[in-house]
Amino acid sequence: MIKHDVLIVGAGLAGMRAALEVCKELDVGLLTKVYPSRSHSGAAQGGIAAALGNSEDDSWEEHMFDTVKGGDYLNDQDAVEEYVKAAPEVIYELEHMGCAFSRTEDGKIAQRSFGGHSKPRACFSADRTGHAILHALHEQVLKHAKSIKVYSEWYMHQLVVEEGRCCGVVVSNIRTGEVEVIHAKAVIFATGGYGRVFQITTNAFAGTADGAIAAFRAGVPLEDCEFVQFHPSGLYRQGILFSEAARGEGGYLLNGKGERFMEQYAPSRMELAPRDIVARAEQSEIDAGRGVNGEDYIHLDLRHLGEARIMERLPQIRQLGIDFIGVDCVKDPLPIQPSAHYSMGGIPTDMFGQVIIDADKTPLKGFFAAGECACVSVHGANRLGTNSLLDATVFGGRAGRTALEYAKKVEFGKINGSHEKARVLDQIEEIFQRDGTESYNQIRNEMKEVMMDKCGVFRDEENLKSCISTIQGLKERYKKGKVTDKGQLFNSELYEIVELGNMLEMAEIISTAALARQESRGGHHRTDFPKRDDENFLKHSLVYPKDGQLELKYKPVVVTRYQPKERTY
Ligand code: FUM
Repeated sequence: MIKHDVLIVGAGLAGMRAALEVCKELDVGLLTKVYPSRSHSGAAQGGIAAALGNSEDDSWEEHMFDTVKGGDYLNDQDAVEEYVKAAPEVIYELEHMGCAFSRTEDGKIAQRSFGGHSKPRACFSADRTGHAILHALHEQVLKHAKSIKVYSEWYMHQLVVEEGRCCGVVVSNIRTGEVEVIHAKAVIFATGGYGRVFQITTNAFAGTADGAIAAFRAGVPLEDCEFVQFHPSGLYRQGILFSEAARGEGGYLLNGKGERFMEQYAPSRMELAPRDIVARAEQSEIDAGRGVNGEDYIHLDLRHLGEARIMERLPQIRQLGIDFIGVDCVKDPLPIQPSAHYSMGGIPTDMFGQVIIDADKTPLKGFFAAGECACVSVHGANRLGTNSLLDATVFGGRAGRTALEYAKKVEFGKINGSHEKARVLDQIEEIFQRDGTESYNQIRNEMKEVMMDKCGVFRDEENLKSCISTIQGLKERYKKGKVTDKGQLFNSELYEIVELGNMLEMAEIISTAALARQESRGGHHRTDFPKRDDENFLKHSLVYPKDGQLELKYKPVVVTRYQPKERTY
């Protein structure tokens, strides 16, 4: 059995930031199913928010208000306050770690505008901000190689919980196929989101809900999973992200008639309204037959920005357009559509990264979470762009500190390693033994399609019920597939099947929570309940596992400074 004081699963921004805290005093295992610098955090492009006030006066209060209004008042405001106050320090810390931010003429960190932010507060590295931060953190992790042991290309199967305390995880070394138990005093999940549940997504292939579902299977509820963010500018049909920074720099959205249609939907903020509003506006134009050439896409037009500005501020976007569809945005507009981008919901935590399992904040001892897999909840019903890199670094650091303090105080818990290992080996063997005729690729495609069509930007009761029933049917069919590769070495087919099982479970949780929320708020829009309903739904959903079924409960939202108001832009 492998042993670490603290084991972190996921080596994106949140995981690496947590590791850098823990390694100050204890030994850390950092486990990731991809190589750390290939983590999905690297795909974040446009910026990281902080009220530095380098371009215009700004304050944490304004950042907080924008975040709460953007989140349609579902955010826990005590957590938001801590988070936005921490932001400037986090930026300087990243800078000192070696992150190269773009600069103003006088050498300060430059800041650009982003959707829903009333001030330019996105600090950025051209349009490769996530990439720049990820590499700065990775360098720091390598520098601390004595106390951080990285397990690259290892897959986490399940959490080990004994007598109400988390004591480790069961994992596979993807390269060798060996199953191992990792014993730890504390476990931190920084496993990312679950955008791959949807057909069109900006998410990397790794975003398959592994962490959320491992927590769920261990009895932890999942919070606010009905709130999925659709990014307004994913490449048509492929979902590859064209950063909101393109609109922050002045890009236009045009419908098939060449109109800047945002004037009808958010006249004061236009293309820089929050993402939920822009994505719905785009989908409404497409549904009304005003997509480009009558198709289901619209245009992102950057031509008026000129080549020099595009090359300085948006070079990656230009290259992506050229590489993937042969369109140079200096000369032609880019075809885009709403694409699943971010999970506002996830594993419930307090503002220190401790996982909590109910409305009374009962902790699951030894278990911590941060980043997209967690729900603190600072984003409420809709996250503002650039607030996620901030979330990952602020709460990654906090979860690391909390786990460190916890692990310093406790002994290793009891763990029955051979029993835990045998359970996972049995599950793998069961998959190898399947001899059905169902195609896993087909099941995956059907799941993605139904989630996009019936649980996407617009939802209603009939479609959600039909979506749940389809997903339940797919779960049955999932048991009747067949694995062609039964080898041990780098069996990617096996892990993709395990991931599909996670995604099917996640899809059912998302659509079930969406059906129960009979209102429209942030990223969750019900055409049959088009208004926000604070009287009945100003509350967080919690989906629990119960006897093989899903059980829904709710908990109150923490409102401190800003009472819910009508949200107009
Ligand atoms: O559009 C973007 O650059 C994405 C940023 C984010 O999701 O925060």
